[in-house]
Amino acid sequence: PEPGWTETTDVLVVGSGVAGLTAALHLREQGLHVTVVTKVNIDDGSTRWAQGGIAGVLDPLDTPEAHAFDTEIAGVGLCDPAAVRVLVEEGPARIRELIRIGAEFDRNADGSLMLTREGGHRADRIVHAGGDATGAEVQRALHEAVHRDPWIRLVEHALVLDLLRAADGRACGITLHVLGEGSEDGVGAILARAVVLATGGMGQVFASTTNPSVSTGDGVALALRAGAVVTDVEFVQFHPTSFVTASVTSVQRPLISEALRGEGAHLVDEAGERFMVGQHELAELAPRDVVAKGIHRVLRATGADHVYLDARHLGREFLEQRFPTIMASTRAAGVDPATELIPVAPAAHYASGGVRTDLHGRTSIPGLYACGEVACTGVHGANRLASNSLLEGLVFSRRIADDIARDLPPQADPVPTPASAGQGWVVSPAIRAELQRSMTRGAGVLRSADSLAATAKELTRLGEQHGTPRNAAWEATNLLTVAAALVASAAERRETRGCHWREDHPNAADEWRGHLLNSIDPRGRL
Ligand code: SIN
Repeated sequence: PEPGWTETTDVLVVGSGVAGLTAALHLREQGLHVTVVTKVNIDDGSTRWAQGGIAGVLDPLDTPEAHAFDTEIAGVGLCDPAAVRVLVEEGPARIRELIRIGAEFDRNADGSLMLTREGGHRADRIVHAGGDATGAEVQRALHEAVHRDPWIRLVEHALVLDLLRAADGRACGITLHVLGEGSEDGVGAILARAVVLATGGMGQVFASTTNPSVSTGDGVALALRAGAVVTDVEFVQFHPTSFVTASVTSVQRPLISEALRGEGAHLVDEAGERFMVGQHELAELAPRDVVAKGIHRVLRATGADHVYLDARHLGREFLEQRFPTIMASTRAAGVDPATELIPVAPAAHYASGGVRTDLHGRTSIPGLYACGEVACTGVHGANRLASNSLLEGLVFSRRIADDIARDLPPQADPVPTPASAGQGWVVSPAIRAELQRSMTRGAGVLRSADSLAATAKELTRLGEQHGTPRNAAWEATNLLTVAAALVASAAERRETRGCHWREDHPNAADEWRGHLLNSIDPRGRL
C-alpha cells in the first residue's frame, strides 16, 4: 500500500533491544535526532529474556586473546578473526559504559564484578545481574536512559515492511505499519539519512524456542526483499536446556541458563547417568552445539522428549540467591530444583547468521546498517559462544553510530521499490503453527537432504495460502521468507559444522569452510 503518512528523522533505528537502544544512545552522543521503532512495546524483544550474562575480559588474569580463542573454537572455522578481535578488545569498555548508564551487575563482597563461566569459555568472564536476570537489567537501564532523552522519538506497535531507497540506491527510510496511526490500514513511511536494523532474531520459525513471540525474522526478511547480502542463516543455535513442562503451552519455552551448569549442575539421563562425561573435555560445559547434540542423541535413543538437569547438590540457599528467575519459572510449573530434577530439552535460541555487515555494521546497501542478532558481523561463525550476543550488540552499535556520524548524507526522496511486503505475495497468518512444526521436524537440531526437501515442499505449499495485508499476515510472510532461506542454505551445506548438523554428512569438510549467501527474487518470491 501507498504510505498514508510520512515523518523524517536523522537516523531511524528499527528495534529496541540491547543493539537498537545502545545505537540510539550513541547516535544521540553524536548530536543526531533518532527515531526508534519497535514492533510491540519497547521491552518486548529477546534482550530482557537473556539470563546468563555478558562475556568480557574483566579479570586481570584473563586476556582478549583467550576470549578470541574460545569464540573462534566455538565458531568452528567460520568466524571472521578481525570481527572477533573488535568484539573482545572493545567489549570491556562497552560493558563499563553500560554500568555508567546505570546497569547494576552482581558484585563480590569487595565490590569487584562477580564473574562466572558458561559453555565453551575457559575462563570466568561473564558478568551477570540479579543472579540470572541480566537481560532484564540491561533492558531496564537502556530503556530508562532512552526515556531520559527527549530527542529520541519512540514509536511502538510498529511493524517494519520495506526499505525505501533513493535514486542512487542508498537506504533512505522504511515503510511501516503502526497500529492506530494515519490512514485506515496505518501504513506510513519514515524517511531517514541512515537506517539501522536491530530487529533481533527468528526463533519463532520453530515450534519451540527460547525467543519471545516477536522474534519472527522481520529484519532478515526485509533485507532479503531489499536485495541486501544475507548469510549463514543455516546456523541456528539450539540452546541445550530449555525447560520442558506440560504447563508451558506457548512456543516460547523458559530458558534454564547455561550458567546453572557453569555453577556445577549436571545433565543426566533417565537412569541418572551423566552422559556428557567422556563426550568432550568440558563435559556439560562444552560449546552449545556439542551439548545440544549430546542431548538429542539421548532423546533419539530413548524416545523421551527431555533429559534432566540435576542442580540439587547446589543447595536451596545458593539456587534462590543465584538463580531467582529459574527458580520462579520452574516452581510455577511445580518443579523444585532444590529437591527435584529439572526436565530440559534443546530449543531454538539464536540465529548466528543474518544480514552481512563489515566491521562498522555497514550492510551491502549504502546507508543500511545492522547490529545485534539480525546481523552477521562474523563474530559467531558456525556457532555463537555463550554470552557473546549482548556483547556484540553493545560493541557494534557503537561502531555504527561512529560511522554514521562520520559520513551522514542529506535526506533523499525514495523511488519505487521492486519487491514489497505490501504488494502481491502475503501469506495467511493461519500457516504459522504448521510452519513451526514443519521446521522443527525437518530443519531443527538434526537435518538431512530428505528432511530438508520435505520441509521445502511444505513451505511451498504453505506459501500458496494467501492472506490479507495486515500485521499477522506480514509476520507470517516474514517467517516463511526466512524459513525458506534457512532450509535452502541448510540443504546446500552438505557437511556438519557448528550448530548445523547433517545426519547424511556427519563431518566438517574443508570445501565448506565458507559462507553461503541467501536471496529471494526481486518480486518477493522464494
Ligand atoms: C544462557 O544463559 O544460557 C544463555 C546465554 C546466551 O545465550 O548467551
